[in-house]
Amino acid sequence: MLNKIKEINAEIAQFKIETKEQLEAFRLAFISKKGKVSTLFDDFKNVAVEEKKLVGQELNKLKTIAQERFDSLAEVLQSGSLSSVDSSLDLSLPPIPNELGSRHPITIVKERIIQIFERMGFNVSDGPEIEDDWHNFSALNFPENHPAREMQDTFFIEKNPDMILRTHTSNVQVRIMEQGKLPIRSIMPGRVYRNEAISARAHCMFHQVEGLYIDENVSFADLKDTIYHFVKELFGKDITVRFRPSFFPFTEPSAEIDISCLICKGSGCAICKQSGWVEIGGCGMVDPSVLENCKIDAKKYSGFAFGMGVERITNLKYQIKDLRLFTENDIRFLRQFTSAE
Ligand code: DAH
Repeated sequence: MLNKIKEINAEIAQFKIETKEQLEAFRLAFISKKGKVSTLFDDFKNVAVEEKKLVGQELNKLKTIAQERFDSLAEVLQSGSLSSVDSSLDLSLPPIPNELGSRHPITIVKERIIQIFERMGFNVSDGPEIEDDWHNFSALNFPENHPAREMQDTFFIEKNPDMILRTHTSNVQVRIMEQGKLPIRSIMPGRVYRNEAISARAHCMFHQVEGLYIDENVSFADLKDTIYHFVKELFGKDITVRFRPSFFPFTEPSAEIDISCLICKGSGCAICKQSGWVEIGGCGMVDPSVLENCKIDAKKYSGFAFGMGVERITNLKYQIKDLRLFTENDIRFLRQFTSAE
């Protein structure tokens, strides 16, 4: 009998009570009329007379222990402060620190670009990354089978060759022009994809920010002034801009935007390949036939567009030499970027 009492004592001590259901199970197991303690009392009559005194005392102790454990736990559960009964919980321990992440350099630069254009009155538009041929190419004057399409190694969707991963953010230009709400003054940041072997200088996925301004009487002077302002805001007042004649199927005239090399300030270094200039994007006056493709009256409206590589600009700003760093998620790299400047 004494052994039995010991056993039940241990059981009571180990019984886990964290919920009202477990408390009830405890009551049923030990305290109720059919519980283990009452059953022992029933058996007490069979105990030998000379042991009765000792066993009786132990039995009463057991009953009190069971009742007290029940009462104190019931009280704790009632007040909702269960943690105070969990002896493994040390409330004086300092909390596990919440590690703060840092923003990705591409995000920092993208947000800064957006901020500069928003202050000039541009809004931000978004478009699909999986695009049809019309919005990525045809509406932008890339004729079918024209070699210009090869400038951008396209990923095609196998099941539907009309669908591709967009090769540039210019698809969003088409989409907002098609909506027909004029004037348009919008920038379009996003991911683009090209079938390139991944190396320090090329990646199959990168980011662009597209810009589009359509209104009456928009001129190349407006385009130049917008880009001048943007470059000075982003890189600083002493950086100069040059427009180099170029070709894009969807703009006429077209230009490449170069800025004076941030590293050597124009005197020539490895980054600018000794030229003193680095390219940050392309631009031009929207070709009237692109406007017409999007049902905009090209006699009444004109506009400019530009597209810039976010990785390119980030590389220049932070002097990052390997594009792969952006997608490797190495926190030693990512931790270095904390602010927008
Ligand atoms: N879509 C071009 C590219 O990916 C960049 C570009 C050039 C965008 C001129 C434009 C533009 O809007 O006017 O290479």
